[in-house]
Amino acid sequence: MKTFLLPTHDLSSVDATISQSERPGHPVKILILYGSLREGSYSKKLALESAEILRSFGAQVRIFDPQGLPIYQSDLDENEKVQELRQLALWSEGMLWCSPELHGNMSGLFKNQIDWIPLSIEAVRPTQGRTLAVMQVNGGSQSFNAVNNMRILGRWMRMFTIPNQSSIPKVHSQFEEGGRLKESAYKDRVVDVLEELYRMTILLRPHVELLTDRYSENKARYEVDTATLSCCA
Ligand SMILES: Cc1cc2nc3c(=O)[nH]c(=O)nc-3n(C[C@H](O)[C@H](O)[C@H](O)COP(=O)(O)O)c2cc1C
Repeated sequence: MKTFLLPTHDLSSVDATISQSERPGHPVKILILYGSLREGSYSKKLALESAEILRSFGAQVRIFDPQGLPIYQSDLDENEKVQELRQLALWSEGMLWCSPELHGNMSGLFKNQIDWIPLSIEAVRPTQGRTLAVMQVNGGSQSFNAVNNMRILGRWMRMFTIPNQSSIPKVHSQFEEGGRLKESAYKDRVVDVLEELYRMTILLRPHVELLTDRYSENKARYEVDTATLSCCA
């Protein structure tokens, strides 16, 4: 009799699908950003649900609370919340961005958080080479405006945005009273996205230096070094 192997759908077994040689020496570090301060916010609920799922895979997860983060203006660089956000970005190996769609775009609160993360802090780049997954919640029918624009933002921040993404329509009908995401094809998609983020972070992280090494930057550095040497010789 032919025996069939059932595909696994146990969240904690995702880690076991990574081969021993590819497994990192520490739990993968994922930072989650969400885009609403509203009490009962669905994008925050989705962020919390995602954190649970990522932890069940074996990831280390931090969620930034945007309450108290000022509107971007460069002379507030020393602000405590700004420093906290930048430290979390530096700590992370991958990120999940989760915004509501407002007027066909990511929320201003969401964009403001990214505006506070510079491309480089001296020689260190807090987002370059990190993996990124994007999700959005919609009050209306399913659309992809916020995730599409977050992809553009991810490119700008020099991140590796994974192909899969999630967009939850009529989001008010998708959560239980207690705040958990209801079982549905939308929830399955959320798990798919997080599984891909988790695996891609593990696979790309050891190669991040190679993947972020740039010809133009090396050339510019070479030119500065040669000019310094010739002026001081
Ligand atoms: C000003 C405003 C604009 C909105 N624009 C859209 C929109 O373009 N598309 C959509 O699907 N929902 C839209 N919504 C609905 C929100 O996406 C929905 O209420 C969502 O749950 C808000 O996010 P939150 O629950 O995280 O606060 C809009 C809501 C507001 C208040």
